[in-house]
Amino acid sequence: TEITLIGCPLEAGAGVRGSVMGPAAYRVAGLVEALRGLGHAVRDEGDIPTPRPVGGETALNRLAETCRNAREIAGWTRAIHDRGYALMKRGGVPVFLGGDHALSMGSVAAAARIAEERGQDLVVLWLDAHADFNTPATSPSGNMHGMALAYLTGEPTLAPVMEDITPVDPTNVHLFGLRSIDAQERQIVDERGVTVSDMRIIDEFGAAALMRDFLASLEADRTHLHVSLDVDFLDPSLAPGVGTTVPGGATYREAHLVMELLHESGLVASVDLVELNPFLDDRGKSARLMTELVASLFGRTILDRKPIRATP
Ligand code: ARG
Ligand code: MN
Ligand code: MN
Ligand code: MN
Repeated sequence: TEITLIGCPLEAGAGVRGSVMGPAAYRVAGLVEALRGLGHAVRDEGDIPTPRPVGGETALNRLAETCRNAREIAGWTRAIHDRGYALMKRGGVPVFLGGDHALSMGSVAAAARIAEERGQDLVVLWLDAHADFNTPATSPSGNMHGMALAYLTGEPTLAPVMEDITPVDPTNVHLFGLRSIDAQERQIVDERGVTVSDMRIIDEFGAAALMRDFLASLEADRTHLHVSLDVDFLDPSLAPGVGTTVPGGATYREAHLVMELLHESGLVASVDLVELNPFLDDRGKSARLMTELVASLFGRTILDRKPIRATP
């Protein structure tokens, strides 16, 4: 596979600063070398330069009253979308190195546009402790990383961020690992028909069985699968380098298994690595684990065995 790394050093969407250092930490942790070691052609595009905040526009200025740094996020969304779209147009799999989760407003918008052009369905797998489905009216924090999926699924009050998007079908969004959701946000997730594997259900049936069912429901060739991996999907004891830790996250082995199953599906067409905050990390622990997980996602295995079939 041809893999392109795109650094997206933004932190304007988060409540805690530091994710601006995320892309650099992945490079220090050896992400490029790990992927090349698996035999992939890897191109590191470097970082997208900090865009100028979008301004002067009334609707966006009004949005900025309830959404922290809305004008900065609008700039990033456009920049990440444009770069991501151009790269996917050339072919290969882009890996967006964040940066906070508002990054996905641009990366997923680009994937949606590419999928539409190719006559494919965009399916989004959101590996996260949170739903990120708040609207400006429901957000308790005003932090836009908690609004990314609301925007992407066509929330009208967030449209000023970037108007011309291909909205994502909320029934094609799968939240996996959910264990923290705000009261009104839960209502939105429910009403829009989002698919959810929360921790309650993962504990009962197991991450692998749920992931297998999900992947089996997708039609190869017709599907562009975008994987958005938030560091807080992982248990904080394994990955402390994130501003929004929630106890009870994915274990080391669950997370690797999910990555291995995703690799075996052959469906992953674009990836976000978001919310890594090196300022909060413990000697690069989280950056290293995320790098290991990406290696599993791109084909690293323990033994060189054939894909395991679930027992009938
Ligand atoms: N639900 C909370 C909020 O809206 C937390 C969101 C955390 N999102 C994230 N991408 N880390 O503020
Ligand atoms: Mn998130
Ligand atoms: Mn999260
Ligand atoms: Mn659907």
